[in-house]
Amino acid sequence: MPSKHKVATTEELSDGSRVIAEIEGQEIAVFQIDGDYHAISNYCVHQAGPLCEGKLTGDMYIDDNGWDWNYDDDEKHITCPWHGWLFDVTNGENIHNSKYRVPTYGVEVEDGDIFVIR
Ligand code: FES
Repeated sequence: MPSKHKVATTEELSDGSRVIAEIEGQEIAVFQIDGDYHAISNYCVHQAGPLCEGKLTGDMYIDDNGWDWNYDDDEKHITCPWHGWLFDVTNGENIHNSKYRVPTYGVEVEDGDIFVIR
């Protein structure tokens, strides 16, 4: 049965910031993005790098015309510091190939405390 683990307070986690906590022997990061909290494993499915220690960014993509590059400045993508794979912290999916996915977890906020459900 899942249980709640306090990882931070809402005051400690400003927009775009993260906290990495060890929960039951596993490192899990919680990100605050535009007022929402997202929990994701600090484990890259490529070669086990510390995914959530990387930079939070938007994404470059090619326009429908197949020629022009655009930048999506919705900074919800974490870049693995080892080889640069990009994952969406809101759902754990690799943004270039959704068959690669990092586990995500539920988050609850109660009285200013942030909990990961695991
Ligand atoms: S270990 Fe994360 S991209 Fe290689």
